[in-house]
Parts: sequence; structure tokens; C-alpha cells
Amino acid sequence: MSAPEALTQEQIKKLYDLTGKVAIITGGAGFLGHASARGLAAHGADIVVTSRNISSLEAVAAEIEGLGRKALPIACDVTNEESTQAMVDKVMAEFGHIDILVTCAGIANRFPAEEFPISEFEKIMTANVTGTFLSAQRVGQVMIKQGHGKIITIGSVRGYLGHPGGYAAYGTTKGAVHLMTKQLSTEWAKYHINVNCIAPCIFWTPLTQQVLEDEKLKQIFMSRIPWGRAAIPDDMIGPVVFLSSAASDFITGAVLPVDGGSVAG
Ligand SMILES: NC(=O)c1ccc[n+]([C@@H]2O[C@H](COP(=O)([O-])OP(=O)(O)OC[C@H]3O[C@@H](n4cnc5c(N)ncnc54)[C@H](O)[C@@H]3O)[C@@H](O)[C@H]2O)c1
Repeated sequence: MSAPEALTQEQIKKLYDLTGKVAIITGGAGFLGHASARGLAAHGADIVVTSRNISSLEAVAAEIEGLGRKALPIACDVTNEESTQAMVDKVMAEFGHIDILVTCAGIANRFPAEEFPISEFEKIMTANVTGTFLSAQRVGQVMIKQGHGKIITIGSVRGYLGHPGGYAAYGTTKGAVHLMTKQLSTEWAKYHINVNCIAPCIFWTPLTQQVLEDEKLKQIFMSRIPWGRAAIPDDMIGPVVFLSSAASDFITGAVLPVDGGSVAG
């Protein structure tokens, strides 16, 4: 294979341009999904936001349309094969291609490991691991036919490091998502599909409100973040746009911490 030709100045300036791209964001009504949608739309992508409950997507869809982009809200449970396939089919019927997938759907229930109800453990495994795999698989099938695509999974610093806060299931699922990302990246490199993962530290969102209101837990979290603050959803925007764009064409199988330095030391 010969080396690609050098980029022109015009191409370099457009490395982050997503005009004409179609991005699906699972968990699109959530905080990180919403931030990802805003970032991708600002760079020109049309946005498909999915969640189990369609009414939760209306505000995000209206905001994206307000930015002058197309927005398609679709109800989809990422743990259900029929629902996920129907979502992909609907996107293809509407747009005819899928360029970007960001898998933000997930749950994070916590219990002490010794008391963790197995039904809860399985629920978290299904939502975070099976749900990520199923959406990547069904969108991946389209991207394989296209011969290109960008998949961004959402891991966590809990996928690298243990924590006393009851993350036996959540941390396990995020470690699995990190490795799933590497596995898919190696299988699908030949189709020019980039598969990368963003691993955030704790964000200020309702998902983590309970943790951040517990002074003792909050201290533990903050003492582990060299930057000295929790993340905000907008911290996701740059990394999501970068991994969705031509600027990251030679990056695949990476797990990118967005964590104020949490996993650096
Ligand atoms: N908030 C944080 O501090 C933090 C830190 C690290 C990683 N993450 C990860 O980022 C992702 C998004 O988190 P968030 O803070 O935006 O959470 P959020 O609760 O605001 O959003 C998650 C969304 O996923 C949806 N969802 C859950 N199960 C689903 C299913 N089966 N099918 C479809 N949708 C489903 C929920 O309805 C919700 O809208 C999650 O994977 C989470 O684990 C979050």
C-alpha cells in the first residue's frame, strides 16, 4: 500500500469539518449525549438522537434544528435487537448513510460488592456492555458496506481503576467497553472504520449527583483528579468532534481519558 498524499492547506483547515456527515448518538437525551450532539452539529453533522423514550429527545432535536442541521429523534432500546435494528433501518431510509456512532447510553447503579444484587449486576452488564456492542454491531454492518465510519464508545476512568464507591458492576462494564473498543478496532480496520473510546472521569450530571452530594465520596473523587474539578459535559465536545473527524483518521483502538489527569498517576 502506498502512503497517502500530503494534505493541502485547504484540507488541513477542513480536518474537523463534518458537513454532510450523519451521526447517531445513543443515550442522546442524556448529558454527555446532548453535549456530543451540540458539538457534532456545530461542526456540520446531521444528528440522530436515540433513547428509550422519544419525548425525552424532543428538546435536543429542536436545539439541533435551531443550529440549522437535520435532527431525527428515534426511540430505541440498545439492549433490544429488534429495536436497535429498526433504528438503524430508519436512519438508512432517511439519510442513506451513517458516518458516526457515539454510544452514550448507559446506567451506573452502585451497591457494595458483597451485597450487589445479581439482577442489578446483570442489568448494568446488559445496558453498558451488550447495549454498546449491539449498537456498534448493527451500525458497524452498515459502515462495513460503506467502507468507512467512526465509532466512539464511552468508557470511564472506572474502567481503569477500582474505587470504594460501589462500582463492582459499572467498573467491570467500562473495562469491558475499553477492550471491546480495541477488539472492534482491530477487526474493522480493514474496512476503514475507526473505533475509539472516550473514558471520562466523574461529571456534574444527575447520574452522579448522589455521589457528589456525599461529602466523603466527593472528597475521594476530588482527591483523585489532579485538575481539581469534576468534568462538565462540554469537556466532551472537543474529544468527540476530534474522534469523529478526519483529524483522527489514523487513530483507532485508543481509549482517551477525559479526566483532568485522573489516570495519569
Ligand atoms: N456522568 C458521568 O460522570 C460519567 C462518567 C464517566 C462515564 N460516563 C458514561 O457516559 C455515558 C453517558 O452518561 P451521562 O452522564 O450522559 O448519563 P445520563 O443518565 O444523563 O444519560 C444516559 C442515557 O442513556 C439512556 N439509556 C440507558 N439505558 C438505555 C437503553 N437500554 N437504551 C437506550 N438508552 C438508554 C438513559 O435513558 C439516558 O438518557 C454513560 O455510558 C456513562 O456511563 C458518565
